[in-house]
Amino acid sequence: MDVTINPLSKAIGAEILGVDLSEKVDSKDLFHINLAMQKSLVLVFRNQKLEPNNLLSAVRLFGDTMEQHLTDTLMESHPEIAVLDSREMPPDKEGKIIPFGGRDWHTDHTNHEVPPKFTVLYAIKLPNSGGDTSFANMHLAFDSLPQSEKIKLSRLETINKIEDFAYIDESAREKFGKLPIHPLIRTHPDTGRKAIYVHPGKLEKLVGMEPAESQYIIQTLLDKVLTPDICYRHKWREGDLLLCDNRAVLHLAHHDYDLNEGRIMHRILIKGERPV
Ligand SMILES: [Fe+2]
Repeated sequence: MDVTINPLSKAIGAEILGVDLSEKVDSKDLFHINLAMQKSLVLVFRNQKLEPNNLLSAVRLFGDTMEQHLTDTLMESHPEIAVLDSREMPPDKEGKIIPFGGRDWHTDHTNHEVPPKFTVLYAIKLPNSGGDTSFANMHLAFDSLPQSEKIKLSRLETINKIEDFAYIDESAREKFGKLPIHPLIRTHPDTGRKAIYVHPGKLEKLVGMEPAESQYIIQTLLDKVLTPDICYRHKWREGDLLLCDNRAVLHLAHHDYDLNEGRIMHRILIKGERPV
């Protein structure tokens, strides 16, 4: 198979052409794909046609799948897959519809003691326009800071809660609402590079600080570092299978489309390690 790897931006992301993930992937190709993932942090396999079984086999090339806490979205026959359908969102307690994908820049599932290393999204159905997802290279974000700030931030730890969405049931809240503590600056286990690691929506507070002060510190930091030169905005095509390295990437779902039109993604998470 002739595999082509094209960068999608200077800072982050690459697309993979010439790989059919419904078939066996050559070990040499997989080696190059893994290298590209390490370098680019986001990979997009184009033109995939994957039934749930094939999708799970393909994803397991990169690690074991893990349990997700969006209980009401899980596919009955394959509960490792969350079906994120923009037409199926229940309102929150105030009656407001919160689109899947969070409301702001974030990394996934920080309310878990051992959060996922990769999020995998497979584009099943897209709106006519809009619905892009942006990604930011948080190694470059950390590198851009002055040394004194790097040292200060490296001492901070986040306390992480589960969100108050109606599609998360009580048992999941109990199981995944235990307020784990993670370092704000984590070290990538494969490369040793540091990255800013945070989900503001799940941030209860920073250790030793009040919630409002914590949010202020994080928002000020993100406003400063999330510049266009470290970001890539992905315009989805149906059949895209995208891998994102949550340990070094924040993402943002753009909600600039008609939710009733139906945007459907299959999402799978791959087990990671305890952040350090
Ligand atoms: Fe997310």
